[in-house]
Amino acid sequence: MSNGNHSSNTVWHQATVTRHRREQLNQHKSVIIWFTGLSGSGKSTLAHAIEERLHQHACRTYVFDGDNVRHGLCADLDFSDADRSENIRRIGEMAKLFIDAGVIALTAFISPFKADRALVKNLVNDDDFIEVYCQCDLSVCEDRDVKGLYKKARAGEIGDFTGISSPYEAPESADLVIRTDTQSLEESIQAVLDLLVARKIINKM
Ligand code: ADX
Repeated sequence: MSNGNHSSNTVWHQATVTRHRREQLNQHKSVIIWFTGLSGSGKSTLAHAIEERLHQHACRTYVFDGDNVRHGLCADLDFSDADRSENIRRIGEMAKLFIDAGVIALTAFISPFKADRALVKNLVNDDDFIEVYCQCDLSVCEDRDVKGLYKKARAGEIGDFTGISSPYEAPESADLVIRTDTQSLEESIQAVLDLLVARKIINKM
């Protein structure tokens, strides 16, 4: 785990191509759309569906997905509390670079701990972080069990499983709450797009 700054003899290089210039070129603002929720709550589905719509609208986008990132950048991390925190810290720093790059960064991680989500929020300006809570009853996620992991967790084959043997701290003041167990995918996409328009991140679609 790398906490703290161990690179004291480095000097920040100021770019001439700034975030603002990139945003002007792109004709939209950059932002982090942070999806949080239980495994199977639909975070990735929603993030990718929104990315598709934004891409069709000529927006620069990128989706960071928990399962994918854990194959590469975070392949050394497990699901202990400490490693989950480090996972979120790394993604937060990466997403921060992406907003500097002028990109709409959509992240789909369980990110179960309030303190870790707050840490990411505090890395960037208030306007740069939109928290979307994909709220879905555990029983629904478990019924779906798309990856068969809940069954394994209940059987004790996987430890520290969110919602079963590891906690999920729900957001208390998310920018948007989507009931992914009752709202349709289309309604959910529209709710996020409407918020992006209201916050003047993108023009009306
Ligand atoms: S986080 O807690 O660190 O934010 P992350 O979103 O990266 O988690 O990864 C979650 C995904 O890893 C789940 O959707 C699931 O497919 C898989 N997974 C494997 N083991 C676990 C576990 N013990 N708890 C939760 N998810 C797990």
